[in-house]
Amino acid sequence: MCGIVAYVGHKEAYPIIIKGLKRLEYRGYDSSGVSIGDEDNISLLKQKGKVSDLEDYAIDKNTKGSIGIGHTRWATHGIPNQINSHPHNSGDGKLSLIHNGIIENYDSLKQVLIEKGHIFKSDTDTEVLVHLIEEIKNHEQVGLFEAVRLALNEVVGAYAIVVMEKGVNNEFIAARKGSPLVIGIGDGEYFVASDASPFIEYTKNVVYLEEGEIVKIHKDKMLEIISLTNSTKTPYIQELELTLESIEREGFDSFMLKEIFEQPKSVIDTLRGRISPKTKKITLGGILDYEQKIMNANRIIIVACGTSWHAGLIGEYLFEDLARISVEVEYASEFRYRNPIINEKDVVLAISQSGETADSLAALELAKEKGATLLGICNVVGSSIPRLTHAGSYTHAGPEIGVASTKAFSTQIIVLTLMAVKMAHKKGSITMSKYHEIINELELIPEKIEKILKKNDEIEKIAAKFKDATNFLYLGRGYNFPVALEGALKLKEISYIHAEGYPAAEMKHGPIALIDDEMPIVVIATKKGNYDKVVSNIQEVKARGGRLIAIVTEGDKTVKELADDCIEIPSCLEQLTPLLTNIPLQLLSYHIALMRGCNVDMPRNLAKSVTVE
Ligand code: F6R
Repeated sequence: MCGIVAYVGHKEAYPIIIKGLKRLEYRGYDSSGVSIGDEDNISLLKQKGKVSDLEDYAIDKNTKGSIGIGHTRWATHGIPNQINSHPHNSGDGKLSLIHNGIIENYDSLKQVLIEKGHIFKSDTDTEVLVHLIEEIKNHEQVGLFEAVRLALNEVVGAYAIVVMEKGVNNEFIAARKGSPLVIGIGDGEYFVASDASPFIEYTKNVVYLEEGEIVKIHKDKMLEIISLTNSTKTPYIQELELTLESIEREGFDSFMLKEIFEQPKSVIDTLRGRISPKTKKITLGGILDYEQKIMNANRIIIVACGTSWHAGLIGEYLFEDLARISVEVEYASEFRYRNPIINEKDVVLAISQSGETADSLAALELAKEKGATLLGICNVVGSSIPRLTHAGSYTHAGPEIGVASTKAFSTQIIVLTLMAVKMAHKKGSITMSKYHEIINELELIPEKIEKILKKNDEIEKIAAKFKDATNFLYLGRGYNFPVALEGALKLKEISYIHAEGYPAAEMKHGPIALIDDEMPIVVIATKKGNYDKVVSNIQEVKARGGRLIAIVTEGDKTVKELADDCIEIPSCLEQLTPLLTNIPLQLLSYHIALMRGCNVDMPRNLAKSVTVE
């Protein structure tokens, strides 16, 4: 949700910022811009479209200078065009600012500023903020650092910002609240970005700015950090584990395909060190001190959005089925606004790839106020959710750059399985033989995924048959109902085909009316679970002429006779089937989207990390 990159040091800022913005394009890609400072001048260059459009635009412009700020936008206030793109300058042109987030009270602030004579060019909330800083700086006769602090005290909303000042070519000011910001520390140079990927080749030493912190970044000095209330903070320098290879496409045509194919490795990474090779004991270090609390919880409330919410639904099946702990799964955006009943005996578990999703964070804040224990399952190390929660487990899937979530989903399910089985074992709600059966099967998942990935060409052929459909229905039962939801989400977000996921048996209560001989229906009909019941649902579809694509267990005969196309997956325990059934659905969506000419890594209107409400 908007990407921020800034640089101050001894190198040319523009190429560093452009390369960084390209790495952050997954966060937003409808327009972009840079401000580069040199001597007494700031060159402001902005363009609608991708960062490459900005590059073309800037080709004959002045981009010289060793300080600069850059932004790639996902529009909230105002359409994506050149005027609304960032950076935004103050009225006197002395300040230039980039912003990720939403200033909720921008309208009332704008009215006051207009009365004071400010003239606005754009429709954005961001331009209001830079004018507010300018107003305070001039009126209060304070430096930029203090003006930013005073301005942010008047702001309601979320922000990560960087502000630079004309003629000041060795320092800028950054701040965050509700949107991420990380500072890379080099030798006589600093980098600022929404995540560490833009500067990974320059430094591994980083400071994650905390909520409500403002920092003065001078190229030759230590970071100076203060809070909104003006107390001094000590920077906590950490070392990054991120590698450059992990954020590159490595020969794949898209990040999405790379990430689909990475899943066997990602699952191994998620499992690594968590199952003892000898005793098969599960150890999740991050929740060790909270195991008793989870076991004795009134209930676990899972809060998440999108794909992570689907993983949460699978978590509900796992925890209730195996550990006999009551679970509720909530859309984080609904949970926070419906006055939920939460108390100290509840465990609230947020699932999030990015760890920055605004709705999930707000749901956790609410649960915190009510005294619940907060847990997280996240992928991005050091992101806001892990920092807010009492305990949690990382998925260790590695950076997920394609906007559509793939490997994050698989690894979230792995962590949920480990947690549920661990709790089940502790509670004695499953037998030792069941425990060992699950662990053994879990360890076989990477090679089974590998086997499914070999069917890529076969799945591509099926995709070619169905690529022109305008609607899809996805059906599944039990553990595979959430997979049907996820399959439908994946298709609609990257191919723009309308798709709905449904519990197979629920179909006859409404969606069956949609079925005609044009309509593709994807059914997950694996041998375990409610197989016979799903077969009956398939018969109902067939009787209405629907075109069936079935995900079946190897060796299946019954469904094969009914379906137009079948994709086989290796046999496995019912509880673990989502880890396999999900893979062909990812590939099906991928190929259909590609055949329809869609950009799978940057689908229209979407952004990777949704840091606004
Ligand atoms: C779908 C997708 C989104 C995210 C959702 C939550 O492919 O990527 O639905 O799952 O925005 O994001 P995180 O998991 O970062 O909280």
